[in-house]
Amino acid sequence: MKKIILIIAASLTIMGASNVSWARVKPKITILATGGTIAGRAESATQAAYIPGVISIEEIIATVPGIKNLADLEGIQICNISSQNMTQSIWLKLCKTIDSLFTTDSADGVVITHGTDTMEETAYFLSLTVRHDKPIVLTGSMRPSSSLSADGPFNLFNAVALAASSDAKGRGAMIVMNDYILSADDVEKSHTINTDAFSSPNLGPLGYMRDGLPHFFRVSGVRHTTKSEFDIGNLLTLPKVEIVYGYAFSDATAMRAFAENGTKGIVIAGVGHGNYNREYAAEMERGYKSGVRYVRSARIHKGGVDSAAEEFDQRHPVSGLKSPQKARILLMLALTKSNDSNEIQRIFNQY
Ligand code: DGL
Repeated sequence: MKKIILIIAASLTIMGASNVSWARVKPKITILATGGTIAGRAESATQAAYIPGVISIEEIIATVPGIKNLADLEGIQICNISSQNMTQSIWLKLCKTIDSLFTTDSADGVVITHGTDTMEETAYFLSLTVRHDKPIVLTGSMRPSSSLSADGPFNLFNAVALAASSDAKGRGAMIVMNDYILSADDVEKSHTINTDAFSSPNLGPLGYMRDGLPHFFRVSGVRHTTKSEFDIGNLLTLPKVEIVYGYAFSDATAMRAFAENGTKGIVIAGVGHGNYNREYAAEMERGYKSGVRYVRSARIHKGGVDSAAEEFDQRHPVSGLKSPQKARILLMLALTKSNDSNEIQRIFNQY
């Protein structure tokens, strides 16, 4: 009799377990804080002026009700700066910290809180250099944490919810702002003050967040993370690459000065379809012979630059859909592999 009771009890337990999900262990999400407006404070809830990078990640997390239901959270304060002051040493530290968290299985995903001014650049750099498929999600805010209707708390909630989602793996680094999910390779900040400040002008968002869940329209079409060929593990500094802007009767003084001061690559934010004037062309001819490599991008946000450009000179690769600031990052990494123009163009065609 006793044996029958034990078998029945065991069966009920198994049945009970089969129709309710096991108590899922929550994902482990690490939030790496770097500063920005999301960590900013103003003197009043309606004042536009504020000081970015003054509150800690613990204080930021405390402003988000329910966020701890999404994941087991750990906050690490990497720095607390305005992102116009971002440095390559912080980039390298972020890359190595994320690599270590993923390699040691200390996190199932990473969220980075970041100033919005250069967030798109950090996102792209990490998408090209972190060789893991676990989610990397960046977010920030356009209003300080002290603001009436601050946007940071919901952006952070959405970023953690995305990073905790099993559907977020393998998509490259992403930015979550104003409910949109945007891909690191084509996102840009496209408004100086509005909370709807980020867009992907050529390809549109990857998807959106709703009720704490991601809804994806598409995947990124370029190489990233586990498909990237760039290994910066032993790099202490990145090759110096700068950008020069194109405009009516621009002269080549700045371009020449860059070339004469250790710059290995120069991106031209050209007029129209990546065009530049005779002064630039003459300086590019001179600089190319001295080893500087040039990439043609455009100051225009849509359409990109392809090789069917006017006066195409194949010694100077074209950026495709990469904005000048994204082309600069890719050229930095390309120059760690080669300064051959055809090889650089291959890289721009693939990333
Ligand atoms: N100083 C700007 C930055 O840290 C503030 C912009 C923001 O974070 O929204 O990028």
